[in-house]
Amino acid sequence: MDAGMTAAAAWSLQAWSGAQLQRVEQALDAWVGVDAPADLGEAMRYAVQGGGKRLRPLLVLAARQAVRAADAAHEAAALDEAALRAACAVELIHAYSLVHDDMPCMDNDVLRRGKPTVHVQFGQAQALLAGDALQALAFELLTPEDAAVPAAVQARLCRLLARAAGATGMAGGQAIDLASVGVVLDEARLRHMHRLKTGALLQASVMMGAACGHADARAQQALAAYGAALGLAFQVVDDILDVTQDSATLGKTAGKDAAQDKPTYVSLMGLASAQAHARDLLGEAHAALAASGLDDTQALAALADTVVHRSH
Ligand code: IPE
Ligand code: IPE
Ligand code: MG
Ligand code: MG
Ligand code: MG
Repeated sequence: MDAGMTAAAAWSLQAWSGAQLQRVEQALDAWVGVDAPADLGEAMRYAVQGGGKRLRPLLVLAARQAVRAADAAHEAAALDEAALRAACAVELIHAYSLVHDDMPCMDNDVLRRGKPTVHVQFGQAQALLAGDALQALAFELLTPEDAAVPAAVQARLCRLLARAAGATGMAGGQAIDLASVGVVLDEARLRHMHRLKTGALLQASVMMGAACGHADARAQQALAAYGAALGLAFQVVDDILDVTQDSATLGKTAGKDAAQDKPTYVSLMGLASAQAHARDLLGEAHAALAASGLDDTQALAALADTVVHRSH
């Protein structure tokens, strides 16, 4: 076995993720719900802590790792700080989106991450406010007062996250989702909905990691393509798991999409074709990484595999 093979064999996603997530969990614990009045902090922490795959933070940190080689020595620490803040910020937007997605006015779910949903536990008004506060906190984290993160990086991170969370991304996609109950969408329209409601934030996670460093145009384009393929694959697999897994495995109510008459990749093309489509998208994600010109894409590649081969 040559040295390269030894290094490759020694690398494990589990070990890498474990180390990254320790930093993320510690930071979230320090930043979320501190100083919030009247039990709002409890609801915010409940929404964020104790569960969740933390895929989006891992994508930020994996993309940061892929571009780190181009750092000048004096800026590496600040860019690492930016990436940790970006990883937490994107998870806060995600957690807020789940709190609102579960509310009675949207999907009306009682189970999330293996626990009662935030509105069940704290009431609807507090769930609404916890979501609002998590969204605001995400942008506060991206803009530290002490200039720990270069101003241009702060601005770029805010723009990427705002575009992916708002009407051009998650919120817009959720609006299409609600407007599509009982509607048969063709593949182009379903793809558009999925790209907005879920894909945008996943792609933004990748681009935010890349923004914490210097990626040339070729790498930027490849990472955008990787994020787009992975983002769509993620929601196709979410549609699949909704019919193939039980609630205990998912930590959320299984079978909801059919019960609520939501258009999904499974309802559009059947289970086997949806699974084949997810595998094709995984191939696209790997091809994009191969075309990126970046050396350290091991974590990004392994995360794409877990998105498609996951059980929950
Ligand atoms: C679930 O996302 C909601 C969708 C966007 C489909 P995840 O499956 O990433 O949820 P957690 O964070 O692991 O709970
Ligand atoms: C949610 O999509 C996407 C979000 C923006 C939260 P789903 O409604 O399919 O997510 P789950 O299945 O409830 O996690
Ligand atoms: Mg929904
Ligand atoms: Mg839902
Ligand atoms: Mg779903």
